[in-house]
Amino acid sequence: MTLTAWVNGRFLPLAEACVNVEDRGFQFADGVYEVLVCFAGVFVDLEAHLSRLQHSCNTLAIPFPLPAEEMKAVLHEAYSRNPFDHAMVYIQITRGVAPRAHRIDTIPKPTMVITVRELPEPSVQQVTHGATAITRPDIRWKRCDIKSIALLANVMGKQEAAQLGADECFWQDERESILEGCSSNALALINGTLVTHPLDHQVLGGIARSMILRLAAEHDIPVEERAWRLDENGLSECMMCSTTDAVMPVCHINGHAVCDGKPGPVSMMLRQAMLDEFNALRQTRQEIAS
Ligand code: PDD
Repeated sequence: MTLTAWVNGRFLPLAEACVNVEDRGFQFADGVYEVLVCFAGVFVDLEAHLSRLQHSCNTLAIPFPLPAEEMKAVLHEAYSRNPFDHAMVYIQITRGVAPRAHRIDTIPKPTMVITVRELPEPSVQQVTHGATAITRPDIRWKRCDIKSIALLANVMGKQEAAQLGADECFWQDERESILEGCSSNALALINGTLVTHPLDHQVLGGIARSMILRLAAEHDIPVEERAWRLDENGLSECMMCSTTDAVMPVCHINGHAVCDGKPGPVSMMLRQAMLDEFNALRQTRQEIAS
């Protein structure tokens, strides 16, 4: 399939899609993004992603490029031109093109790009044996609640993890509390309660995170949003979650097994519950279509 991208109002082959070298996204990482998944034409949590995108734009005073309904129409059109059964849809909005200067004197027209790719299959190794992580002191900026395209620290953390044979790098604050991963939120089961860092400037309000907290509550698993550490008594499972990977058990951290080093029952139950929701979404769509 020839991939098609949407750039500032036009669909064109991905290989021909380009933006100006003076785009502030390129010059200053002055922009925001979203990653969504779409199963057989059904976007998962579209409203939540669009409202987070709107929040990111508002916080940085980047005008939202399209009215919400037009944005949805463009996303559906982008999907229909790249109709993977399991698709990953990327939206990037930057402040736009202007001669390079930090100060913003005139507000340029924002640049918006949408690309669609096939969502990679989850790693069998990760699903059956659990993922692995390292921990590092948080070197990121203090507005991680904004889904900014400035991801250099995240790239460095992920790369260091990969070089050490791990899947993710969890950022820790100065008290060694686990904040989140480079491209995921982090959770733990502690004395039977699902614990994750509260939403503040140090973590992204993940869409998968909200879904998991809701699913846990629906399955009578108590949920607590508080700072947590790996050395807490009663910690029996760790997991990470994101739109693209759902929830994954994390069974080895810094080379040490988390409990018995095997995916725990709650992680696996939550993963299954999430996948069941995705399947239910697909089925609703197929029923409407038939
Ligand atoms: N990243 N925290 C960070 C730092 C992230 O980059 C992500 C997602 C998440 C999870 O958010 P969500 O559940 O909304 O996907 C948490 C995406 C997938 C990425 O950068 O590719």
